[in-house]
Amino acid sequence: MFQLTRSVTWQALQRLQQETEHDRIRDYFAADPERFDKMSLRVGGLFLDYSKHQISDAVLAKLLELADHSALVQRRAQMFSGDIINVTEDRPVLHTALRNVSDQPVYHADGKDVMPEIHRSWEQIHRFSDAVRSGEWTGYSGERIRDVVNIGIGGSDLGPNMACRALLDQRHPALNFHFVSNVDGTHIQKVLKDLDPATTLFIVSTKTFSTQETLLNARTARRWFLENAGEDADIGAHFVAASTNRKAAREFGIREENIFEFWAWVGGRYSMWSSIGLPIALAIGFEGFMDMLRGAHEMDRHFLEAPNAENMPVLMALIGIWYINFVGAETHAIVPYDQALHQLPAFLQQLDMESNGKSVDIFGHPVNYKTGPIVWGQTGSNGQHAFFQLLHQGTRYVPIDFIASLKPEPGFEEHHFALLTNMLAQANAFMEGSQTGSRLDPYSCPGNRPSSTLLLDELTPRNLGALIALYEHKVFVQGVIWNINSFDQWGVELGKRIAGEISERIDTNVTDFDPSTQGLLHLVRERFGN
Ligand code: F6P
Repeated sequence: MFQLTRSVTWQALQRLQQETEHDRIRDYFAADPERFDKMSLRVGGLFLDYSKHQISDAVLAKLLELADHSALVQRRAQMFSGDIINVTEDRPVLHTALRNVSDQPVYHADGKDVMPEIHRSWEQIHRFSDAVRSGEWTGYSGERIRDVVNIGIGGSDLGPNMACRALLDQRHPALNFHFVSNVDGTHIQKVLKDLDPATTLFIVSTKTFSTQETLLNARTARRWFLENAGEDADIGAHFVAASTNRKAAREFGIREENIFEFWAWVGGRYSMWSSIGLPIALAIGFEGFMDMLRGAHEMDRHFLEAPNAENMPVLMALIGIWYINFVGAETHAIVPYDQALHQLPAFLQQLDMESNGKSVDIFGHPVNYKTGPIVWGQTGSNGQHAFFQLLHQGTRYVPIDFIASLKPEPGFEEHHFALLTNMLAQANAFMEGSQTGSRLDPYSCPGNRPSSTLLLDELTPRNLGALIALYEHKVFVQGVIWNINSFDQWGVELGKRIAGEISERIDTNVTDFDPSTQGLLHLVRERFGN
């Protein structure tokens, strides 16, 4: 059986790591004045600079060899053509079909072209978003909708939430957007307290329509609506659903025509391109939503067609693999210098950690190498005043992705200039360190800390779509090289199952949980009067 760590390329990379361990990134620039030009590339409105890495030409060549020797070409083709690559759930992975704006069919493993149903779902999203935005869709009292509340969690929250916030300044001026995800009642309570039920629309976003947190929040919203305004017959004008489970949505009281369909072959964390993206279409209009799909599709084409050495997702994946598997980095920081992208680290955290947080390969054998990193971060320049100190002078080695949009907010050019100069200063400081003092000097910053910089020409729906697709494919490539299934999440499912068991048996004196859980459960039960 093929063992990744025994491969000639893997072992050559281990040797290269030892040989280049003490290299200084700045010396790479001194030795090669073309380095920035060679190690940067553009795809549509996205520009990536990956020159500030402790990656010599020889290392890059070997990393590319690793990709060439992997199953990437085959697995990528399988993903795009609807083969069953999510083997543990026996499903194809077709989020790329959701943004297939070409006229090409896409076949599911069962032989059916999925594009006609996707086109039907676009039409449904189009009609509905136009009706709500124009005021033609009214609540039970005849008033237009002013507040949209998305109730969902994980992939049914993070994508639309992140995109609606990123594109906030393009949203419909008469509509406000709220996202309720946490089962903690304070979340929904805080949102509902300022809303008028007559002008509020709820989107119950749940692929399965079985997630405890979402159903509880949805029931609380329905009760609030019935107590404060309408009656059962009015639910239809105020509650719609995005779900693959039509039956459960109907039973909740949602009208058949207001169930926005999607399909089992869309993974939760890849679902913002489906009807889970309904809040995005409501916020920025259907054309804006389609622009986001177009940007993602453009990145899909690039990912499919560009040679590995010029392929943005492949290069980002290989850089990550270098640090995770050879240098020993445990984490990866995402730092958008753009307040509108403040939800991006949380979104990418789910995308990366739920996808590649795996320790067995696709055959179920334990892997003997590290897989997905801990992904974290927050916006710059705030992060500079929170965790950057550790990144500059601490003992951890943390590769960083800086992300920014070049276009300033009109009237705030000075702010934008300060934002971008801060970002450039940080990336430079991480690489150069401080030039004075000895390395033992407490004022001295060691430098040689790597970063990529991703510049968007402008934060448009199209560029946002391309950016998200870029990270999706990066995660995919890493999963292929590690030979893991990036599309299941059995750990999360285990937690869901046990939560169900505990709440079902809260009234009984259960003895088959571990002593700690039993002890804590006893305290909870006492508090709840059982
Ligand atoms: O976090 C696990 C997960 O299964 C995600 O993949 C999904 O987005 C989320 O739970 C919510 O599930 P659902 O959309 O079915 O409510």
